[in-house]
Amino acid sequence: MIRLGILGSGSGSNMQAILDAITAGTLEAEIVLVLSDIPNAYILERATRAGLRTGLIDCRGLTSKFPEEAQQETAEALHQSGVELICLAGFMRLLRAPLLDTFGGRILNIHPSLLPSYPGLNAWAQALEAGARESGCTVHYVDAGMDTGQIVAQAAVPVLSDDTAESLHSRIQIEEHRIYPEAIAKVAAEMRRD
Ligand code: GRF
Repeated sequence: MIRLGILGSGSGSNMQAILDAITAGTLEAEIVLVLSDIPNAYILERATRAGLRTGLIDCRGLTSKFPEEAQQETAEALHQSGVELICLAGFMRLLRAPLLDTFGGRILNIHPSLLPSYPGLNAWAQALEAGARESGCTVHYVDAGMDTGQIVAQAAVPVLSDDTAESLHSRIQIEEHRIYPEAIAKVAAEMRRD
C-alpha cells in the first residue's frame, strides 16, 4: 500500500480519479496528504469532503514562484506524513531543489499533451493553435525542467475540426483520469521491487 501526497492548484479532478481508483480497489494506495497553494481551490474542498488531510502551501504572496522556504516546508510536511510518492495534479508551480532533493525520482505529474510536444501552460490550447490532429496526455517523472522528466504513460485523443479549447481539454481529461491511477500503480509496483 503506497502512501501518496497530492499537490494541486485547481479543481482536483485527477485527485478524484486517483481516489476513485483506490475506492474501486484498482489502485492499492492511500492518499495521506493533499496540499494546495490556492486557499479556495476546489481540490481542497473535494479532499476535505473525502475525509483526507489537507494543508495550504504558503507561497508568501508570490503568484507563480515557489519560494525555497515554502518548498522546504512542503517537503517536511510530506515527509512527516510518510509520503512515498508525490503526485502533482494540476499544481501550477515549478518544483526546485528542496523538494526535488528530498523526493528525487519519487514525483509524478500529469500533463495535458503528448510530451515532448506542447510543454508548459494551456497545452491543449497550444495543440489547437498549432493545428495538431492529435493530442493527449502524459504521466511523467518530475525533474527540474518544465515537463521534461521521463515518461511513464501516455494516451492520445483526436483533435476534432470543431473543437474549442474547452472541448479538447475535456476529451483529454477523460484519458487523464484513466491513465494517472494506472501509471501510479505501475510506479508503485516498480518501487516495491527496488
Ligand atoms: C489537468 O489537465 C492536468 O493535465 C494539468 O492540470 C489539469 C488539472 O486538472 N496539469 P484537475 O485539477 O486535476 O481537474
